[in-house]
Amino acid sequence: MSGHWIPIAKVADVPEETGTMRVIHGTEAVCLYLLGDKVCATQDRCPHGNASLAEGYIVDGMIECPLHQGMFDIATGVVKTPPCTVNLTTYPVKVEDGVIYLEEGAR
Ligand code: FES
Repeated sequence: MSGHWIPIAKVADVPEETGTMRVIHGTEAVCLYLLGDKVCATQDRCPHGNASLAEGYIVDGMIECPLHQGMFDIATGVVKTPPCTVNLTTYPVKVEDGVIYLEEGAR
């Protein structure tokens, strides 16, 4: 991975209560997740409908969509429960000195 990394948020900015945060990366809405001390990133919009996954709930390493409760594995983006059928796009994440970076142009 040799891309240009863009600082997007501080780890401390991700709300502890939800462990999720919506950020805009280029033209994409991206959801950041805190899984213990690991940070992950996926597309924010649920592929099933018009819902922000940043408003969902983390359950056992999965994000539950707030609208119809479809679930996705956060680390891989793989869909886990209906009504969802399409996996999430995931984004490489780098954390340095408490700052979260996403790779420019990464999809
Ligand atoms: S919009 Fe997410 S499960 Fe329907």
